[in-house]
Formats: sequence, C-alpha cells, structure tokens
Amino acid sequence: MCDKLIFVGNILNPTLDNVKCINGYIVIENGKITSVGTNFVNEENKQIFFKNGYTVKLLGRNQFLIPGFVDCHTHAPQFPNLGIGLDRPLLEWLDKYTFPLESHYSDTKFAAHVYDQVVRRLINNGTTTACYFGSLHLEGTLELVKCVIKHNQRALVGKVSMNVKNDAGYYNDTRVELEEVKTFVNKVLEYKNELVEPVITPRFALSCDTELMKQLSNIAKENSILIQSHIAENKKEIEFVLNSFSECSNYADVYDRCGIFNNKCIMAHGVHLTDREMSMFARKGASIAHCPASNTRLRSGLCPVRKLLDSGIKVGLGTDVSGGDNASILDALRRTMDVSEHLNLMGTKESPLNWEEALYLATLGGATALHLNDKIGSFEVGKDFDALLIDLYSKDSPIDKYDFSVAQEEEAILERVQRFVYMGDDRNIVQVYIKGKKVKDIL
Ligand code: GUN
Ligand code: FE
Repeated sequence: MCDKLIFVGNILNPTLDNVKCINGYIVIENGKITSVGTNFVNEENKQIFFKNGYTVKLLGRNQFLIPGFVDCHTHAPQFPNLGIGLDRPLLEWLDKYTFPLESHYSDTKFAAHVYDQVVRRLINNGTTTACYFGSLHLEGTLELVKCVIKHNQRALVGKVSMNVKNDAGYYNDTRVELEEVKTFVNKVLEYKNELVEPVITPRFALSCDTELMKQLSNIAKENSILIQSHIAENKKEIEFVLNSFSECSNYADVYDRCGIFNNKCIMAHGVHLTDREMSMFARKGASIAHCPASNTRLRSGLCPVRKLLDSGIKVGLGTDVSGGDNASILDALRRTMDVSEHLNLMGTKESPLNWEEALYLATLGGATALHLNDKIGSFEVGKDFDALLIDLYSKDSPIDKYDFSVAQEEEAILERVQRFVYMGDDRNIVQVYIKGKKVKDIL
C-alpha cells in the first residue's frame, strides 16, 4: 500500500442534485483523505508534492475518479445460480432453486471456493462495499467473512436466520439459531477488522416467527449493529405475510412489532409499499435497497424509487443475486433508470431518475443507506479512500473514441462520465482502492 498518495485530475462527487466535478487533487494518507482541492500548483501543495514518500499520480484526460460502488443487498451463496432458474415467481423460486442451493453451504470447502469467486468478481466490478446475506450456516458464513478479509473488501456480512419449516429442510430450531447468531456476531467482532461488520439477518417474515425476530432485534441492539431483511417484494408474499400475522396492519408493522424496524435496518425491495408504510420508513429512518434486476427477473414489480426518495427514505442499490441476474452495480444503476423510465411511460406521476441521481444511489446513496456515509461514499476530508479509477478508453474498452463533442471542456468531463455510466463495464474500472489499498489494477 502507498501510505501517501496524491491523484491530480478529475475527481467526481455524485450528489442527489448533480455530479460535482473537481479538476484538482486529492491527498490520501494511511487510507484516509486528508486534503481535496482545485489548485494543486500553489505553495502549500508544492510542499506536499516534494515531501518524501508521496506517490503522485497524474490522471489523463479520459480518466477520472469516482467513489467506489456500494451493493446494499446481495446473496453470496446464490452466485452459482446466477442467470438460471428465473422462470418462477419469488416464493416458488425460493423453494425450487434457492433453498436447495443454499443448503449446500454446510460444506465449508464448497463455501470457501464459491465465496472467493464472489468477492473477486464484485471487486472486479468496482463494488468496494457489499452488504451480504450468507446462508443459514455458521461455519459456512464465516468462510465468507474470511474471504472479504482476505481480499480487503469492505463488507457487512449476515448469517441468515430462519426457523419456519420448508420442504428443503432449510431452517434451524430457534434456540440453536439464536446461539449460532450470537457466536457469529462475536466471531466477526473478534477479527477487529475495520472493514468488516456483522449484520443481523432474519431472511423475511415468512421464514422467521415473531419470537425469533424479537430475539434477533435484541442481539442487534446489544451489539449496536445493523439488521437486514426483505420487505414487500411480491404481492403473493405480502398476502401470505398479512395472513400469517393477522394482528398486523401492514408488512412494515410485522417488523415494527418485533423491534427490527428502526433506523438501523436495511430492507430489500419495498416494491409494493403502501403510502403509510413509506411514511413509517421515513419516520423510523429505515433504508431501502432497491434491486431492479431481481424485481424484473422474478416479475415482482416496478419499484417507485422517485416516490421513495420524495417520501424522505434513504435508498441504495442492490444486485440481489441470484434473483438479480447481474453482479454489477453499474448494471443495477442502469436498470434503476430503466424501471424509473418505464413507470413514467406507463403514465405514473414519477419523473424518471437521471444518470446523475442513479450514480448517487450507487455510491453515496448506498453508503447512507448502510450508515457508512461518515466513512465512505464521497471524496471528503476525513473519509476513507474507497475509489474507482475509470479510464474511458482502457484496453478492450466497450466505448469507442470519436473526436467529436459539442461540449466545452468543463462539460466534456461530465459527458465522459455519462458515457461510462451508460456504456462502460469492468474493463473501464482500471483500478480499485479500498481504504487506500489498491485491490484491482489493470492500468
Ligand atoms: N425473500 C426471501 N429470501 C429471498 C431471497 O433469497 N431473494 C429474494 N429476492 N427475495 C427473498
Ligand atoms: Fe434478496
């Protein structure tokens, strides 16, 4: 690792209003951003420049830095099912494809092998932070923790909790489950790794009874850690939930009564939330991981993200592999724009999200949804340097170069960022940094 690093060139900070571009410099010391500015060639910065030990990297005209991508929701054990088994709606899909695959993770060797590929694939795609669902298995999910530590990825990792019977026999007895969750949390915390945190993970209201969810909420509170689950993904699912918890007025109420619906929870989907549930999300400070690929592939529905944002809800993006068919947040970002456009074309009042808003959701929006925005998500002094160096015309780039632009130089950089957002892929992500450490380099 370079302890002292300076980049000079275009540095981008996506916000909900627009993408702010600094043509300047960023100084990184021991993984943290210590200075960002526009005027590199002043006396003070010359001092920094000439000080021993700084590595200075000058970015080319077609290169720029963006904050690392944040995947707020993915299932690491489901990667072997990527791109297959998408012919059934959610509940049938879980029974037919997902629970049988996840059952295999009692085999720690299998788990270690798959998870190594998963983490490498995500880093290659620019996911510097991932919020993972593991499987039901304690030891298997600890293999995922070992993999993220080995590859220096920032991650929240959850051992999935389930105590409701299913045909695959994929559930635990409540007492065993609670013991295993406590052991899991303690083991992850014992690593004292700054990048990795445990997250309490009740799968969803149809996999956990009230008693289990209440106890899980206590474990989360005792350890001040986040909780993740699924909510209002599919209409049949909602119907079953309201039948199973007839004392509850809506889906969010089920989680609320168990104490897991608060400002430390991140819920995947929220495709079919009622207005009342949306205000509960905003009031309680709960976040949503929007997973457009999965919502389309499992035919769950079109999530009204604009409405969620307008209601004051924190939203990040998730790939939701393997309901989602793509592990890349750049893909999730584009599909977010597509879903939003489709809702608009269908005549809803939603104004479509533009590429700058979608890029915000993929970076700072996701960091905020995961309560990590004091550490990552943008280039600000005091934050960790989690960054992607993008090269528009890298080797084998999917983007061709034409010497034509109607924009002036200041706007031309935003045109180049826009082209990456619409057309780029992992080949354009030439370097990836997590807390200042280079974890990918194809420059
Ligand atoms: N709801 C409960 N479990 C799952 C899962 O694994 N994937 C998705 N998309 N939804 C779920
Ligand atoms: Fe999911």
